[in-house]
Amino acid sequence: MVKKPRQRWGSRIGVVLATAGNAVGLGNLLRFPSKVALYGGGAFIIPYLISLALLGLPLMWIEWMAGRYGGARGHGSTVGIIGTLFKSRTAKIIGRIIGVVGVAAPVLIIMYYIYIESWTLGFSLSALFGWLPEPVKTTDTAMALKPFGEFLAEYTKPTPFAYLIFWITVLLNWYVLQRGIRYGIEILAKYGMPLLLVMAVFLAVVIFFSKGPNDHWSALKGLEFIWKPDFSRILDARVWVEAAGQIFFTLSLGMGAIATYASYVKEKDDIVVTGMATASTNEFVEVVLGSAIAIPAAFVFFGPASIPELAQAGTFRIGFMSMPAALNSLPGGQFYSFLWFFLLFIAAFTSSVALIQPMITFFEDELRWNHTKAVAVAMITVIVGAHFAIFLPKFIDELDFWAGSFMLIFFGLIEIILFIWIFGPDNFHREINKGAQIKLPRWVAYLAGTVSLGFLLVITVMWVTQNVTDPKFLVTGNAGQWAARIVILVLFLWLAFYAVVSTPKEE
Ligand code: TRP
Repeated sequence: MVKKPRQRWGSRIGVVLATAGNAVGLGNLLRFPSKVALYGGGAFIIPYLISLALLGLPLMWIEWMAGRYGGARGHGSTVGIIGTLFKSRTAKIIGRIIGVVGVAAPVLIIMYYIYIESWTLGFSLSALFGWLPEPVKTTDTAMALKPFGEFLAEYTKPTPFAYLIFWITVLLNWYVLQRGIRYGIEILAKYGMPLLLVMAVFLAVVIFFSKGPNDHWSALKGLEFIWKPDFSRILDARVWVEAAGQIFFTLSLGMGAIATYASYVKEKDDIVVTGMATASTNEFVEVVLGSAIAIPAAFVFFGPASIPELAQAGTFRIGFMSMPAALNSLPGGQFYSFLWFFLLFIAAFTSSVALIQPMITFFEDELRWNHTKAVAVAMITVIVGAHFAIFLPKFIDELDFWAGSFMLIFFGLIEIILFIWIFGPDNFHREINKGAQIKLPRWVAYLAGTVSLGFLLVITVMWVTQNVTDPKFLVTGNAGQWAARIVILVLFLWLAFYAVVSTPKEE
């Protein structure tokens, strides 16, 4: 069979911006500040930085290497990439089934991610139209937040407006993905990423210089809360698991999404520097800008005491309640709120296309479907799944628990075993340095195969002991939780079936 040439990125800067757009998302601007607040500021940052060095960077390079290697052989999804590692047919089939995790996990995440993305668009339009509540002048945090909490509760019922915006968000994603790698995703990132950076820096500056109701509350105190090392909880296993989980989530690792983007580079393109650039851009937006917006704003307008309370209430409180409540109390506040939500929307948009692309790539490379059909089937899967997220309470939390936390860690482990141990550290080293201007030293491969692997094993064991020891684990659950479990199972079986029947005879 004659293989059609695969799509390619158009330019070096385009690849860097697209993968940065893949990684930079709601994780940087919402999930990171919430986790920092929840796990005590400086206590979270230490395990976070250690996880970045030991897991984030090595896995980033592993996925870049795996992606370019697979792409050169006509495979851009983890199903196909892992398949190429094995000669024997049985091993190939098992490898392809394992690879299904790297297609299913992003699809499961997108089922709720795209819904939240639609809130950011809906809220930014609401701010523009002046629909957000008027700020209440008070130093009582609960009173100040109340109208914004009610607005959020009403919006997410959902209102007809919210449902309409959901469809618009879906169609925007569909459009970009239909246009493809170079003319869709790359162009979106070329406009979106610079805009995102400008908006985020601007908001951080506004917050830094704004005055709240009380002179003792300042943005600087918020930064101090995050960055002052606090060793008191350093032995708390939960903080370590959460910090490692955040590194996976924010860098889009452990689910093959980076590998899929990497599969569209040319064989001689430098991936050592590009991988480093992806991670650095993401970390800049996370630890610099992500630290400088939501938490300092809460410190200025609601005081330090509000932080634990806001964080307890979940990832969305800080972004969708305290942020508009704070920004709306500034002169011209609706405009700042618009900027904040639009910033979130752009960040989410460049990530949501990246969460859907692995499935499209799987359909095109393995099943040989044409582009239009591949995009349509992927989008319909997303739309069906998202309806559970919209209408069934607890569906989101259950999916986030499995796909947004467990699968990433588990698949990260598999990736290290496959691409360092089975592929061989020397092969990894040789392969990643093809075309590299600055060579990755060999010890990085050995470090990844030993220290990183050991560290990740410990994290996995901690995750399991924290979550699976409950005797009610997986036995009970409400409708939303069961729906999520069934969706996960059906998706796996469906994709695994395709992965097996499409196993190539020889390659
Ligand atoms: N990294 C994205 C964020 O920070 C979310 C994400 C997780 C993601 N895994 C992904 C995006 C895989 C694209 C592909 O919001």
